[in-house]
Amino acid sequence: LTATVNKNDHLEVGGCDVPSLVRRFGSPLYILDEETLRRACRQYHQAFQRYYPGESLVIYASKAWNCLAVCAIVASEGLGIDVVSGGELYTALRAGMNPEVIYFHGNNKSIDELQFAVEVGCTIVVDNWLELETLARMQDALQPPTRILLRLTPGIECHTHDYIRTGHLDSKFGFDPDQLEDVFAFVSQQPALECVGLHAHIGSQIFELQPHQDLTMVMMQWMSKAATYNLPVRELDIGGGLGIRYTEQDDPPSIDEWVRVICEGVVAACETLQMPLPKLIAEPGRSLIGSACVTAYTVGSQKVIPNLRTYVTVDGGMSDNPRPITYQSIYRAVIANRMSAEMTEMVAVAGKHCESGDIVIKEARLPQTKSGDTLVVMGTGAYNYSMASNYNRLPRPAAVLVNAGEADVILKRESYQDLIQHDCLPEKLVEKG
Ligand code: LLP
Repeated sequence: LTATVNKNDHLEVGGCDVPSLVRRFGSPLYILDEETLRRACRQYHQAFQRYYPGESLVIYASKAWNCLAVCAIVASEGLGIDVVSGGELYTALRAGMNPEVIYFHGNNKSIDELQFAVEVGCTIVVDNWLELETLARMQDALQPPTRILLRLTPGIECHTHDYIRTGHLDSKFGFDPDQLEDVFAFVSQQPALECVGLHAHIGSQIFELQPHQDLTMVMMQWMSKAATYNLPVRELDIGGGLGIRYTEQDDPPSIDEWVRVICEGVVAACETLQMPLPKLIAEPGRSLIGSACVTAYTVGSQKVIPNLRTYVTVDGGMSDNPRPITYQSIYRAVIANRMSAEMTEMVAVAGKHCESGDIVIKEARLPQTKSGDTLVVMGTGAYNYSMASNYNRLPRPAAVLVNAGEADVILKRESYQDLIQHDCLPEKLVEKG
């Protein structure tokens, strides 16, 4: 994060004074640092250039944060994009993303979504038999065949939260290894489908390198098997999953290390199996955008339970950041308007939702806080806005993009009017008289 402390003892992100941003744009506020996002994009590119002698492509897993501005930034850095719904696809296209570098994922794409994807000509990452058969039938003879990757479940375990593990055999995603040869045989008979490669994603917020290293060999073995069915497999999409540092204790590998292990693994596997180097694709989400954003809240009420705990409440919570209540995720916070104050307190930072579990940070080391302070939670770029809700009918916060002292709104704050805009009140419910 391009963050400093300025002469007013305030946190500054992207050259902007955070308490002033809150005064100007309201609270809570997502503050996205453009430079940090762009830097992470470049780190991925540079690492692939350094370690991979073949062709490569980095696609942004936009489920981490999909909106027009973010799509436009990653596109301008030369990345492609991974989308998982018609809505994400639509947003990416409207942001100007080239369909040639759009990859459409998902384990239950609707017919409409598949048609949309085929029409715009993006690559479809096929997850299951139903989808495969639907696509094979859908294609009209005049169009070029649809480019597909096949998603498989590689049977690789990694250590992360159960809800975000995907590579183990008991996973709802992808083709089971047992079925793969049947799938290859089927696809090789489909003129409407061009199977250009294979895909796997083993999980998210992973700190170990070994699972991805193992994955390269497993995947190249399947690539080599697919080639025996005359499938034109030239692309290997290795998924995402690199973890980021949320707290001082977290020690994830760097982007450079993660990419190196994967590139070396693929190169070695290709040598062993006598295969040409595939076009190597990675689809990071969290490690591109997670550290690039902070959420600024305003401190409100406090509750002191003597000898037990102090709750410091902020004006948001599980609706703008559902990760703590969903995955017990741990975050770090600072008081942005008193950066050098001594951290004398250990408090719980609570959200404002009507739910006891709505705790943003269970144990936060902070200075003495008072109502009106700007409390900033770090590392909220990934899976915060994208998983935000209107629980308790809270309008979603605004987001601003900061860079070199300038701030631009990229998501408008929702209004009460926005909240009811899709509500319908049937005539018979309207009080007469
Ligand atoms: N590719 C596929 C097919 C995926 O399913 C995912 C994440 C990614 C790439 C990107 O993974 P990343 O690089 O961000 O780890 N909501 C959860 C995370 C869910 C991840 C889902 N898939 C969270 O807040 O931790």
